[in-house]
Amino acid sequence: MAENSRRDFMGKVFGGWAALGGLGVLYAAKKTWDPLPSVKAAGFTTVDLSAAEPNVLNVEKWRGKPIFILKKTPDMEKSDRDVVVGKDRFLVAIGLCTHLGCIPAYRPDKKDFLCACHGGMFDTSGDNIKPPPPSPLVIPPFKVEGTKLVLGEEGPEYKKMKEAGLIA
Ligand code: FES
Repeated sequence: MAENSRRDFMGKVFGGWAALGGLGVLYAAKKTWDPLPSVKAAGFTTVDLSAAEPNVLNVEKWRGKPIFILKKTPDMEKSDRDVVVGKDRFLVAIGLCTHLGCIPAYRPDKKDFLCACHGGMFDTSGDNIKPPPPSPLVIPPFKVEGTKLVLGEEGPEYKKMKEAGLIA
């Protein structure tokens, strides 16, 4: 009798641990599925970049368009097109190929974007490095607020890029 209830108790304990373990797995999976925390309101998307991992492409949505956000690694070439947030540099670009509008895929091992439609390629600054794309990926209007990026608002950094002719 005592042995049985002990077994029951142990069963519950192990069952509990197993459930917790399962939750842990779910949590870990959810973390990798989830894009960066973002808030969408009235044409603006605010994205918190503090949890961004280098060389991991995040795809946000802004006005129905995919927005690529890629935290650069130190070995990636610096560019005037980089969005600087704190000490980090980011590629922020509309994720549509400038040839005919397909969505290029990021290849973390090669650190480039390949457009499957006609083989065009872009580097981690969004520059077109293999035709047919005729121009770099387009930078959307943005504003940097602390560790956050507001898509849809023209901040001073964006205006500077515009003046320098970096925005198509
Ligand atoms: S649409 Fe990307 S290469 Fe043609």
